[in-house]
Amino acid sequence: MPLAHATPETIAQAGMLLRSGALVAFPTETVYGLGADATNERAVAAIFAAKARPHFNPLIVHVSEAAEAARYAAFGTRAEQLADRFWPGPLTLVLRRRSDCPISLLASAGLDTVALRAPAHPVAQALLRAAARPLAAPSANRSGRISPTEAGHVADELGDAAALILDHGRTPVGIESTVLDLTVEPPVLLRPGGVTLEALEAFLGPIGKPAPEGAIRAPGMLASHYAPSLPLRLEAAAARPGEALLAFGPYAPPPGFAEVLWLSRSGDLIEAAGNLFALLRRLDRPEFSGIAVMPIPDTGLGRAINDRLARAAAPRSSASPARA
Ligand code: TXA
Ligand code: MG
Repeated sequence: MPLAHATPETIAQAGMLLRSGALVAFPTETVYGLGADATNERAVAAIFAAKARPHFNPLIVHVSEAAEAARYAAFGTRAEQLADRFWPGPLTLVLRRRSDCPISLLASAGLDTVALRAPAHPVAQALLRAAARPLAAPSANRSGRISPTEAGHVADELGDAAALILDHGRTPVGIESTVLDLTVEPPVLLRPGGVTLEALEAFLGPIGKPAPEGAIRAPGMLASHYAPSLPLRLEAAAARPGEALLAFGPYAPPPGFAEVLWLSRSGDLIEAAGNLFALLRRLDRPEFSGIAVMPIPDTGLGRAINDRLARAAAPRSSASPARA
């Protein structure tokens, strides 16, 4: 198992592996990513193969800072202001590729845009410096499955596809970055995530919601995604036989569940986001008939949590693009 604690030595080794075209999984503040040199077409292709990811779904490319992003994409005033405020951090900006952009077109899924973010995690930042390349890195799970928040999840999902998995414990935010499309006016939220809509709107003013045809602009936002093997049921008020429960808040959960795990007993959405994917994995066991989830408030990080839960609960015809 190519799993190693993240140290200056293993990070340096990971940087060399990336420069040689290999894949390396690494922690970000959101979830673990499966990284490749974004300028290496074959390495990027290997990501799609390892994840069994459809080629129409573009990847996020990680950069160390805004000055680097500006070498790859049209980085206007608004991008600069957003980067100033939210980078490094869980905000991904979709921008027009520059004509001299060295990033693989496969990473953009053939679009004339590229999704860029500067991660806040110290291991991710050290790895970007060691590799001295932009790193394409989707979440390190098989396509459509639950994103990994621990190194062991990556090993379970991807086996030996990564030459190395850098282990740095549980990722602190626990839910993926917010994806904001800056190629349209006003900017459009393509995926709720670690930076809340409230924080973005306080900074930018009103943000557009994706039009129904937004499925084309955010090809990755399939209806069924983040899915455990068991069926998932939302807004559960009563137990069904054999079900496990993901509970939230300081209320007594309905009786009769085979097992109860708390996203947050105190009703803290930050804590709940951090626990979401790991607890879904823990309850995804054949001894249960399904997973039920108590209602989660749809504000702040709750929007991102409910977005992931709705996709995890969606019918499992994997290739049906839905709202973006
Ligand atoms: O927190 C995160 O964002 C994690 C960590 C590893 O950084 N990465 C992640 O990547 O969640 P991934 O590939 O699982 O999700 C990327 C999302 C997809 O929904 C994809 O469709 C969208 O970003 N995306 C990427 N490039 C895009 C583009 N050019 N235009 C529109 N959407 C894009
Ligand atoms: Mg993903």
